[in-house]
Amino acid sequence: MTKKLHIKTWGCQMNVYDSGRMADVVAPLGYAPSDEAEDADLVIFNTCHIREKASEKLFSELGRLRPLQQAKAAKGERMIVAVAGCVAQAEGAEIQRRMPYVDLVFGPQTYHKLPEMIARVLRESGGVLNTDFPVEPKFDSLPQQQKSGVSAFLSVQEGCNKFCTYCVVPYTRGAEYSRPIAAIVAEAERLVENGTREITLLGQNVNAFHGEGEDGAAWGLGRLLYRLAEIPDLKRLRYMTSHPRNMDDETIKAHRDIPQLMPFLHLPVQSGSDAILEAMNRKHKADDFRRIVDKLRAARPDIALSSDFIVGFPNESDADHAATMQLVSDIGFAQAFSFKYSRRPGTPAAAMPNQIAEDVKDARLQELQNLLRRQQTAFNESMIGKTLPVLFDDDGTHEGQVFGRTPFMQSTYVAAPAAARARFVGQELNVKITAARPSSLSGALAVGI
Ligand code: SAH
Ligand code: SF4
Ligand code: F3S
Repeated sequence: MTKKLHIKTWGCQMNVYDSGRMADVVAPLGYAPSDEAEDADLVIFNTCHIREKASEKLFSELGRLRPLQQAKAAKGERMIVAVAGCVAQAEGAEIQRRMPYVDLVFGPQTYHKLPEMIARVLRESGGVLNTDFPVEPKFDSLPQQQKSGVSAFLSVQEGCNKFCTYCVVPYTRGAEYSRPIAAIVAEAERLVENGTREITLLGQNVNAFHGEGEDGAAWGLGRLLYRLAEIPDLKRLRYMTSHPRNMDDETIKAHRDIPQLMPFLHLPVQSGSDAILEAMNRKHKADDFRRIVDKLRAARPDIALSSDFIVGFPNESDADHAATMQLVSDIGFAQAFSFKYSRRPGTPAAAMPNQIAEDVKDARLQELQNLLRRQQTAFNESMIGKTLPVLFDDDGTHEGQVFGRTPFMQSTYVAAPAAARARFVGQELNVKITAARPSSLSGALAVGI
């Protein structure tokens, strides 16, 4: 009998990938994914711990689930409620204490064990908690992917040894681990066989990748990209998230040489002030970032850049903030994410003196976001009149439109009747851009299909 599985995902792309793999792991037990929690046999909340309020949001979602779980129990059936991901790792025991009806709490390195954890839940009364960092990586025990879209994620590296002073990831994901090249190539080939045309390689520090190569030596990300570019029918390659410290020449060269490697890079810099970068333990200076961007642009002149910024880190002065604004003006970003510093218990920055007042953080964030929005709008407007290859997807399609992305990650909409949609999906077609908005483009096919 098919059972109903509902997964809700917060956080980064790695969590999106993990949620897909969890569905693969439980598929042999008869669980089929559903968009609704109501009447589900298994609900998994895959959570993120990166900024405050994540756990409060989780507790209120869990509260809303309780009546659904009770309604199912009233019918003599069981809804297993599970919390996964980074909040589970960080606050597992607290979740079980506050929400005793949560059956299962498990961390990001344990989900290959879901079948046995579910069996334990069904067998025993009382919740199951598993926040191990197993010595054996989970990747070896995961089944093959069941389905894949036109654009798919592929985790190649996980965990982080960098310990930026504000960040929880090294504690929730554990130490850096890189998958062997052969396993990655096999997974990529399988995705392509299933219809995937674009693969985004994922890792918390994807450019720190050092997987065992086909020749037994450690391969870096650059070499992996060259290898994946040999797969026929794989039209596009991307990778995220990178750290400036690991942006090596081989990877930069790959941007010059590999046509499938898209001219877009998400490279978080966090701040433009050297004093703040040092306090953050980033181990690079603002000028190092400028130099990396120069090298990237020399290798691939049209490369579009994206980044992450934190405003209001402890001790950040007006001059530090001005240095961030200056860096943004100097570089020119195609898009970026910016956040107010959020104090995370247990991280070194949480205990630093001179925490910044909320209203100062708000003002700095607004100033930075205004500049970033202007840059993004200008970048999108610079596309008007150009013809760009757009890879069409079947996700998020509006009525009467098809959706795809340019090489620079811009969401692009083209008018097409619903009946014609299937002909677009999975194709990379030239689109003449006719209009730009702050976060999307629209256009018309350069040649009809
Ligand atoms: N591994 C990546 C991204 C990690 S988390 C990297 O090294 O860049 C994604 C982003 O969340 C970070 O780049 C950072 O900008 C932001 N972030 C992480 N911890 C934060 C905190 N405590 N407060 C505010 N933003 C934070
Ligand atoms: Fe967090 Fe820094 Fe590691 Fe990125 S590099 S995951 S920001 S500790
Ligand atoms: Fe969040 Fe964990 Fe990703 S804290 S950003 S889900 S690694």
